[in-house]
Amino acid sequence: MWVDLDERRRIRITCAKGLSEYLQQEVEQLGYGVTSSRPTGVEIEASMVDAFRLNLFLRTGMNVLFLIDSFDCRGPEELYDRTSDIAWEDIVAPDEYLSVVSNVNTPTITDWRFASLKVKDAIVDRVSDRVGRRPDSGPERENVVIQVYWTGDTCEIFLNTSGRKLSDRNYRKMPHKAPMQETLAAAVVMATGYDGSTPLVNPMCGSGTLAIEAALLASGRAPGLLRSNFGFLHVRGFDEERWQTMRRDAKRIRSKGDAKPIIATDVDERAIFAARKNAETAGVHHMIQFSVCDFAETPLPDDPGFVLMNPEYGMRLGDVQALEATYKRIGDFFKKQCAGWTGFVFTGNRELAKSIGLKVSRRMEFWNAKIDCRLLKYEMYAGTRRKDRGATT
Ligand SMILES: C[S@@+](CC[C@H](N)C(=O)[O-])C[C@H]1O[C@@H](n2cnc3c(N)ncnc32)[C@H](O)[C@@H]1O
Repeated sequence: MWVDLDERRRIRITCAKGLSEYLQQEVEQLGYGVTSSRPTGVEIEASMVDAFRLNLFLRTGMNVLFLIDSFDCRGPEELYDRTSDIAWEDIVAPDEYLSVVSNVNTPTITDWRFASLKVKDAIVDRVSDRVGRRPDSGPERENVVIQVYWTGDTCEIFLNTSGRKLSDRNYRKMPHKAPMQETLAAAVVMATGYDGSTPLVNPMCGSGTLAIEAALLASGRAPGLLRSNFGFLHVRGFDEERWQTMRRDAKRIRSKGDAKPIIATDVDERAIFAARKNAETAGVHHMIQFSVCDFAETPLPDDPGFVLMNPEYGMRLGDVQALEATYKRIGDFFKKQCAGWTGFVFTGNRELAKSIGLKVSRRMEFWNAKIDCRLLKYEMYAGTRRKDRGATT
C-alpha cells in the first residue's frame, strides 16, 4: 500500500453537529487518545489498520478521514500544483471511480466545487501521466473518496476511508415517518446510559431506529458488519486478508450475559411493519418485541429500566396544538404507569415538552439536522408522583 498499514498519521473522525462528546467516548473506549475535538468531530493519531477498525466499530462517527498530505495553499493554481506532487498513481488505480468533496473557508475562492474540480483534475492528470489512463470521476461516494479541507492558507487532503457516511448502516430499508439518523439514535441511546443490563421500552418507535441501535449496542455488535462497502476497500494495495480477519474477530464479539428485553411499539401498524423488517435486516429482530398499540398501552416488564420516546414535534401550528395533548398524556403515562423507571423524551420543541408537566432531572442537547433538540430525562420514583405535576421543564 502507498502507506505502511501500521504507520500512524492524523485521523479526523467527523460526526453530526453536537455528537462529538459521544464520539470521543467511543474512540477512547476503543483505546485511542483524542488529540483535539470540535463540535463536528475529533482527531487522533493512528494507522490505516486503525481506520479499518474505527469504520467497523464506531456508532456515532460519520466519516473516518486519513491524512494524505497537508500544505500551504494560496490559490487554485497552487492547489492544483501541490496536489499533483502527491503520488496518486500509488493510491488510485486508473480503473477506479473517484469522488472529491471539499470544505472551503478561504478568501481565495467562494465555491467549494471549484476546489474539488482542481483537486480532481490534479489527481486524474497525474494518474494519466504516470499510468496512461485516467480514473473516472463524479459525485458518487461508493469508491475512492478524497476529502479536502482548505482553511485560510492551509490545505489538508484526506482519504475518506468510510466512503459513504457511516450513518448509512444499510438496515433501514423502510424509513417510515421522520426517521432519526442512525448515528444520532446511537448517541441518544448512549446518552440514556443504557447498556443492555436493564429493559428498554421504546413506545412511538416509528421505523425502529432507537430500538435497533439499542439492540446493536446491547449485543456488542459492530455496526460496520452490516455494510459491505467502505472507501478504503477501493484504494490501491488494500489488505483484504487483514480486513477479513478483523471482520471475523468482530463477528465473534458478543456481550456477556443475556440482554434484557427491548420492547418497541407504535400506534401505526405500517411503522411496526417497517421496524420489524429493519430489525431483521440488522440481525437484531430476535432481541426486540414489537407490537401495535397506543404508547400508553405499551406493556412494561416487571424489572424497571428505561422508557425512551421520540414523539413528533410538529413544524406547523395546527400540529403543535394537537400534539400538546399527546405530550400531556406522555406525562400521565410516566407518572401513573412508570413508577421506578427512568423516562426519556427526545424532542425538538421545548414548548411542547412543558406539557409533559413533570420535573426534568437532566437536559441533554442534540441537533437533529438543523433543529435544536433536547433529550429530557425524568426520574419516576415510586411514591413521589403527585407532587411532580405542574413543575416546569
Ligand atoms: C417522530 S416518529 C418516531 C421516529 C423514530 N424515532 C424513527 O427513528 O423512526 C413518531 C412516531 O410516533 C408514532 N405515534 C404518534 N402518536 C402515537 C400514539 N398515540 N401512540 C403510539 N405511537 C404514536 C407515529 O406513528 C410515529 O411513528
